[in-house]
Amino acid sequence: MIALLNDEEMGYDDVGKGMPVLFLHGFQLDRSFWEPQIGALVAQCRCITLDMRGAQGSATKGPHTMDQYADDAIALLDSLHVEQAVVVGLSMGGYVALNMWKRHRKRVRAIAFADTRATADTEEQRSRRRVLIEAAEREGSTAVANLQIASLVGKSTRDARPDIYDTLHRMLASAPVEGVIGQLQAMMAREDSTPLLEGIDVPVLCVVGDEDVLTTPREMGALCEAIRNSRLEVIERAGHLSSFERSSAVNQVLSEFVGSLLYN
Ligand code: MLT
Repeated sequence: MIALLNDEEMGYDDVGKGMPVLFLHGFQLDRSFWEPQIGALVAQCRCITLDMRGAQGSATKGPHTMDQYADDAIALLDSLHVEQAVVVGLSMGGYVALNMWKRHRKRVRAIAFADTRATADTEEQRSRRRVLIEAAEREGSTAVANLQIASLVGKSTRDARPDIYDTLHRMLASAPVEGVIGQLQAMMAREDSTPLLEGIDVPVLCVVGDEDVLTTPREMGALCEAIRNSRLEVIERAGHLSSFERSSAVNQVLSEFVGSLLYN
């Protein structure tokens, strides 16, 4: 479906009934990334997905900002008359979840952070993003997908599930190139959200693949420890895109987390 949010047309889905859960995808992905979760959780809660600015169904040119991504998510909740939602954010989606907390915390019922971090980019990470922007400008999204995929997908998935690896590569390569550049610019400019962590007072679940080389279990462990009402789940044999690589394991912990909120 398409919604007009902050003067831009954006793709979204809204299925199921009960507690609203908003899913925010990572860089160069789109809302179809969450299909394995929606299929499993739709009987339990109301699942809302959004193509974030720059993604396939929301092909907006950059530069974008994290504030815009957070405000777009809130505009979607407004348009669906959702007062509060559980926010599930993977990687860049986690950066947006933190920004939603910073700007609109009353709208956040709980947060599940997956394979993400609170810190801003280091200089090394910014130079890597400049390389990716140049590759996107010169050769398009496939070139960025080729440069990124090895660090996104865990070794076990690469070795044992070439079907999942290929699906993810296709998803990354089909992202609109202007959107890929806009998202890279937004991530480069994002602020350090670490100071926010100690103030987060809603229930938090942290999920990380044990083979995640971008946001390692150690880094996720530190993020989780800085939040008072939080718990960490390490997903075996999964890399940075853990929810797609080991969907049934992630679905189980998400389902337990959402279920626990009924009493929490
Ligand atoms: C993502 O998957 O969203 C990216 O790895 C985030 C990043 O590059 O910082």
